[in-house]
Amino acid sequence: MVKIDNIELPDFPLLLAPMEDVSDPPFRALCKEQGADVVYTEFVSSEGLIRNAAKSVMKLDIYEKERPVGIQIFGANLDSMLQTIDIVEKSNPDIIDINFGCPVKKVVSKGAGAGILKDICLMEKLTAEMVKRTNLPITVKTRLGWDHESIKIVEVAERLQDVGCKAISIHGRTRAQMYKGNADWKPIAEVKNNPRMHIPIFGNGDVDTPEKAQEMRDSYGLDGAMIGRASIGNPWFFKQVKHYFETGEHLSPISLAERIEAARRHLQMSIDWKGPVLGVFETRRHYTNYFKGIPHFKEYRMKMVTSDKAEDVFATFDEVLDKFADYQFTH
Ligand SMILES: Cc1cc2nc3c(=O)[nH]c(=O)nc-3n(C[C@H](O)[C@H](O)[C@H](O)COP(=O)(O)O)c2cc1C
Repeated sequence: MVKIDNIELPDFPLLLAPMEDVSDPPFRALCKEQGADVVYTEFVSSEGLIRNAAKSVMKLDIYEKERPVGIQIFGANLDSMLQTIDIVEKSNPDIIDINFGCPVKKVVSKGAGAGILKDICLMEKLTAEMVKRTNLPITVKTRLGWDHESIKIVEVAERLQDVGCKAISIHGRTRAQMYKGNADWKPIAEVKNNPRMHIPIFGNGDVDTPEKAQEMRDSYGLDGAMIGRASIGNPWFFKQVKHYFETGEHLSPISLAERIEAARRHLQMSIDWKGPVLGVFETRRHYTNYFKGIPHFKEYRMKMVTSDKAEDVFATFDEVLDKFADYQFTH
């Protein structure tokens, strides 16, 4: 069994990665239903929360059914981060996660996200103070280092653990790599194999097949896998991995009916949560992946991603179910 503080998880838990504009409550709920053991919100700006910016505050919403859920926050200013803890606690998450890995310029240039990898003392201090501020478990998501020459993840992980961090998810790339090349899981295994470490170490980066999840578990010995891109439009990925672990076989491909049902529910939950305009608009990015592989699908995809009215999108789903009833997915 793996434990994040007092939260008991199954062996080798699968975590839904925080993803901006993707990991919202409807998507997290779908992933949870399909086997995700822990889900995270997208990153929420501490400065935005303090200003009470509506967009940031909305990101704190969670559904009961998705627990355990972690709210991820980012920032580099200690006072702001501490105030943020007080705000976030009111949403009653199970975990508060600190983003020390975001590589984008507008975040890094303020010393937040992966920017903090240039100042390990500040990273340690922020974590220590946040741990003291709350009874909720504080976890960290980070990258291997700022660049290849400055990888100190083994030392960083020890220092975070020593100040009370309860789990670390490590994306096997440096900030300099952004998303290029392959994720390197070896340094993550070094963290895990450090005899001083006792908190869970979750691997992240490029887990897009059940075989890769198995490799992360069996060859690298990590405590669990955090999964991002492979779940976009494929919330079944968690179930596919678990089925493979249990049987050594691949789950049968997800049928068109299941895909349509998921797309419908996704859209309906988004409308209920964000209202009809944003709900329709922000679910669009998922459809391409839900229906990937269907030949001559462009006409229907275009309708799904250009219709402004929910009823038109729902009608397109009906049409697709009818038109492609015989199509056999291979994944
Ligand atoms: C669209 C998108 C948005 C992301 N947003 C966040 C975020 O808000 N916080 C974070 O820590 N990482 C974010 N990431 C990084 C992912 O959590 C993850 O570390 C990365 O995608 C590598 O994992 P994967 O190969 O399984 O996708 C994002 C990634 C993507 C693709």
